[in-house]
Amino acid sequence: MSRRAEVADQARAVAAAWSPPDAPASWWLTADTLTAIAEDDVLLDLAAEVPTDRLPALLLSAAIRRRVAEVAAHPLATYYPHPGGPQPPRDDGFRPALRGFAVAEQEALRRLCARHRYQMNEVGRCLDVLPALALVTSDDPRPLALVDLGTGAGLGLHLDRYRYTYRLADGDITDGDIHTGDAGSTVALSCDVRRGRPPVGDPLIGSRVGVDSEPLDLADPSTAAWLAACVPPEAGAVTRFAAAAAVARADPAPMVRGDLVDVLPQVVARVPPDELLCLVDTYVHVFLPPPELARFTALVDEIGRERDVEWISVDPLVPLGPHATTTVQGLAVPPEWLADNRDGGVFGVIGRVSIRAGLRTDTLLDARTPGPPGSSGRLRERASRAQHRGPAGGPGERIAHGVRHRLLRAPLEQAFGRVGSGVGAHDVPRSPGPLDHPQPAVDDRPEGVDENLVCGGSPLERLRIIVPVGNVVH
Ligand SMILES: C[S@@+](CC[C@H](N)C(=O)[O-])C[C@H]1O[C@@H](n2cnc3c(N)ncnc32)[C@H](O)[C@@H]1O
Repeated sequence: MSRRAEVADQARAVAAAWSPPDAPASWWLTADTLTAIAEDDVLLDLAAEVPTDRLPALLLSAAIRRRVAEVAAHPLATYYPHPGGPQPPRDDGFRPALRGFAVAEQEALRRLCARHRYQMNEVGRCLDVLPALALVTSDDPRPLALVDLGTGAGLGLHLDRYRYTYRLADGDITDGDIHTGDAGSTVALSCDVRRGRPPVGDPLIGSRVGVDSEPLDLADPSTAAWLAACVPPEAGAVTRFAAAAAVARADPAPMVRGDLVDVLPQVVARVPPDELLCLVDTYVHVFLPPPELARFTALVDEIGRERDVEWISVDPLVPLGPHATTTVQGLAVPPEWLADNRDGGVFGVIGRVSIRAGLRTDTLLDARTPGPPGSSGRLRERASRAQHRGPAGGPGERIAHGVRHRLLRAPLEQAFGRVGSGVGAHDVPRSPGPLDHPQPAVDDRPEGVDENLVCGGSPLERLRIIVPVGNVVH
């Protein structure tokens, strides 16, 4: 396949994810931009100049957004939403305006693509993490030491400072939607719950720290402007990013620059002993090559021999390839999910690895899947079938699996001894360069990864199945 055809295919795949039959009207600009990149020769030529591992279609769409903000007077600017504002409507003028802009701004777009990498920071993923933390804190009163791995701009580090609405599925639950979190927050996150009732609660965060190989400093105006340009041009996404970025800027959390496997021991060594260590990764471990993933998992077990630890993961199954049988945490998933994965369904899996006094419990919590509300989607149908034929208990029990095994105690130094980088924990990341470099680790990604879909192809809001967890141990 030619480079142009390959890039066009990737652009079409992302466009398709943003244009299911009953997509909300606000998704049109993202879908049409990616469609235009696939179809317009000027745009496609520009995208095809970008190496595949730098996500050409998404990178070009971000460059267009950034350049439009710089050249504010161009007619194309009128199509983009602003934080807090509505989605400007679709009309026939968009495609000609986009093409005209691309022709006029080719050199500027080329420069932006060459100097930046595409970086998605989706604060909406906190909707997936919060119920998992609620489970953690429901049976452990200790404050959490929140360690957000692959934190990017650190939006996930402030998840207790956001306002959440879980819209419960009609027919399943009769007592209304769930509102939780900081009621006065300017960051409002919401999603549909396709089945069941998620556990919620306000997690008590004792300390917080982010880890990233390229941490992003929102206080730097050019970094913040580029990250804003990487947000899909959908009114809700634009608004929640701007609000969350303001929260993070107002109270920056400490960050550590470095490979997450390498620096984790140093980070953990600084966690107060009376806090419960809670590692969170959202769409990060999916980027680790299998040997690194194995090294991380072994490290978590090592840490668990010395102190209690939680590892919450929200990662797709897909990048493990069409033959995947487990999640990035090594959790088994129901055969129906594997079938969906083989069929090309892109969905996140929420998992929990919990180690207490050396006893490890693995729990598959949940899945989140794209698709409009009302259309249940294959995953939901299959989950419902599982519910009806499962054993007695809460609905979540049928698809929540837990496995326990005891870890042998061993000196933590064995794990820490692997670290030789000398990276200082809590180095405050200034990031003059992170956006100027291609994303590391992408090259090594396991076969089967569709980076476009992983990074930007799953429209948020209305995507999730949240299933209460039965915490079945077997
Ligand atoms: C797709 S982004 C997700 C960012 C954020 N967690 C979210 O959900 O919006 C993946 C992030 O992981 C970081 N990353 C990837 N591999 C890493 C590694 N080995 N060590 C540290 N950070 C890594 C990237 O730099 C990037 O910021």
